[in-house]
Amino acid sequence: MRYSICNDWEFTQEWSDNFLRFAAEGQKVRLPHTCKEIPLHYADSNSYQMICGYRRMLILPDLQNQRVFLQFDGAAHIATLYVNGRKTAVHRCGYTAFRAEITDFVHPGANQIAVRLDTTENPAIPPFGFVIDYLTYGGLYREVWLDIRNEGLIDDVFVTTPSVTTAKIQITTDQAPQGAALRFSINDPSGHVIWEEETESIASTPDSVNHAITLFTASIPDALSWDTEHPRLYTCICELLSPSRIILDHQETTFGFRTAEFKADGFYLNGEKTFLRGLNRHQCYPYVGYAASASLQREDVRILQEELGCNAVRTSHYPQSQHFLDECDRRGMLVFTEIPGWQHIGDTTWKKQAVRNTREMILQNRNHPSIILWGVRINESQDDDEFYKHTNALAHRLDPSRATSGVRYIENSHLLEDVYAYNDFSHNGLTPGAKSKKEVSPDKNKALLISEHNGHMFPTKAFDSWEKKQEHALRHGRVLNAAYQSNEHAGCFGWCMFDYPTHKDFGSGDRVCYHGVMDAFRNPKPAAALYASQQDQTPVLEVVSSMDIGDYPAGQIGDVAVFSNAEEIRLYKNDVFVTTLHTGELTSLPHPPFILDDTVGELLETQEGFSQEKSSMLRECLLAAGKYTLPNLPARYKAKLLWCMIRSHMTFADGVDLYGKYIGNWGGEATRWRFDAVRDGKVVSSVTRSPSSHLHLNVRTSTTTLTETDTYDMAAVRVRILDENDTPAPFAQLPVHFFLEGDASLIGPAVVTAEGGMCGTMIRTIGHSGEATLTVFADGLEPVTIKYSIAVTVQGWPDLFSF
Ligand code: GAL
Repeated sequence: MRYSICNDWEFTQEWSDNFLRFAAEGQKVRLPHTCKEIPLHYADSNSYQMICGYRRMLILPDLQNQRVFLQFDGAAHIATLYVNGRKTAVHRCGYTAFRAEITDFVHPGANQIAVRLDTTENPAIPPFGFVIDYLTYGGLYREVWLDIRNEGLIDDVFVTTPSVTTAKIQITTDQAPQGAALRFSINDPSGHVIWEEETESIASTPDSVNHAITLFTASIPDALSWDTEHPRLYTCICELLSPSRIILDHQETTFGFRTAEFKADGFYLNGEKTFLRGLNRHQCYPYVGYAASASLQREDVRILQEELGCNAVRTSHYPQSQHFLDECDRRGMLVFTEIPGWQHIGDTTWKKQAVRNTREMILQNRNHPSIILWGVRINESQDDDEFYKHTNALAHRLDPSRATSGVRYIENSHLLEDVYAYNDFSHNGLTPGAKSKKEVSPDKNKALLISEHNGHMFPTKAFDSWEKKQEHALRHGRVLNAAYQSNEHAGCFGWCMFDYPTHKDFGSGDRVCYHGVMDAFRNPKPAAALYASQQDQTPVLEVVSSMDIGDYPAGQIGDVAVFSNAEEIRLYKNDVFVTTLHTGELTSLPHPPFILDDTVGELLETQEGFSQEKSSMLRECLLAAGKYTLPNLPARYKAKLLWCMIRSHMTFADGVDLYGKYIGNWGGEATRWRFDAVRDGKVVSSVTRSPSSHLHLNVRTSTTTLTETDTYDMAAVRVRILDENDTPAPFAQLPVHFFLEGDASLIGPAVVTAEGGMCGTMIRTIGHSGEATLTVFADGLEPVTIKYSIAVTVQGWPDLFSF
């Protein structure tokens, strides 16, 4: 049985012998925990580097003939475990879990558990040793488990599906008694048993003294496959039976019937070519770094799928939370995960650790159907054949079912993996969206993947101009378009999902990489809509401009991008039809962006009564005047305008009037632009842009129901200031206040600035059931109140025994 032990820990920022002996004071904390909260801007990467300590009493009953383990899901970065003062285990990776058997170290009653945690950027282990473009926060930032088992136990269950109707199950037992047997069954997604099998006894293929491996194959002709739209999860249940057929151990894992194959021309899921449209995700959150609840890990998958229209994610640059991966399994999100590292390869010991990390990453994650690719090179490192032969061979041995890859920025580097993953930063706004396989990969018979693009090439803040945000979005669009078009890219992972704090060598002046298609709170920038508009399920319509001429140089709005998955966009000016928008150059995208470059349309005909010929000529001149300004109008338009005026007896003043009315749009009634998105002849979404001074707060919470089970729960709150048409108001950079009452606590400051009109906060439960009310307010705006209900159903180790 596995029990959470995330509560009742004590923490110190300064590890000492007294702390180990429970003599010195500690601060009460719950896990996940960050050793140091950091500010949103100007964070100091030294602030979370320390030799800190965690400790906890563990009250155990008499556990005769049982084995006791502790499992740490995430301890950043070097953890030394002490049980009753004795050193029990050392783990040197902040991103993989570790498990320590403590049977011989514990006794009935109170046991002292302590962890000395080195959160420094210790060059002895990956990813450290040189520079890194992200913060590496310390702490016991994932869950810790107490696992009590019988002497004979199931150590590992590994399920692969060589075909969509076959499951191969490999069960590793440890210290199984003579005459023991194994039983396994498969449950379908609705929980019905569809396969059962039992061995006579364990057919031992010992892989070490006590370990035995047993293989089963189940053929399920009517299995429902797992894919991105129907992520059907089956459960494999394994039982270890004693010679008298008593259940000694029980393990279960979910899996999916799916095949995942990379071929020269792309990626195939269940034999069907599937383009990987993804983003890179770091695992950090504002203030708390890596220490977020299970629900927030899951929320990121929801955002990637529902709000960003992605079918794939790269867990840059390390294995991420089980909650995140489980949700990818449940939602059909395809995952490219990789070993920790960033550009630098260290010495022999360092490399040995990287190999160990490869092993741990694979053994801990190989049952996730969502994972389709192992990254077994250090992100963006140089070639090192000996090292990478090793990681590749290990990956293929531990998991023959999945392809390997490794991310590089170098072209034509040695390809020991199955897939060439290339960070294609070649697009600079003018150059083609992506390089060809011929240019970057040494092997045209292997798949090519764009593992990153954009990012530092065009950092874009929520408070940048519309023009800049539009170019940011279009650059993502151009790379994606090129990858779709080439027919030789298996997919494309943009850099990146959200803005993140980083080290001094990177980022803007405040040490933030504004590389996200969302801000740090997961509020969308326009680039988010470029991605969102590529899916078909939910209508998307985003006009990348407020249509305020004063926001553009010389009042020239220029071409405005409109991201939508509709078939047609109709433009109206003060409710009068103007024109339908045409799509731009990115025609290989599933839903190419529309371009608004004609705000006159048929108005000269319908409103001025001009002939078609005259309207068309005048429209051209007026639009050119809008583009170049009247004084700078190129000669050919000047000539046209003159000819048109002479022919239709127009004065210069008439021309200026028309300009004011149709291009300048000043004076008279305020212009109200309406964009209607039409699908199957019906308006499915509508957006209005007009000058506005009536703002309101738009507050979205990830949930209103918080549930504590293994540990505390969190809600993420996203705030945007919008005008009466729900257009983002980027200039409303107001102080936003958060006031929380009830059974929860606020994370981060109670007052923040709405950067580019957007900000957020998070709240956390505090161990009791009840309610909490969050009020969000800003000067002059209507406050918004959110009510939370909080339920506490403790599932952790009770720590209460009568002896
Ligand atoms: C890549 C790197 C990422 C990030 C990105 C920014 O070189 O792999 O971690 O730094 O650049 O564009």
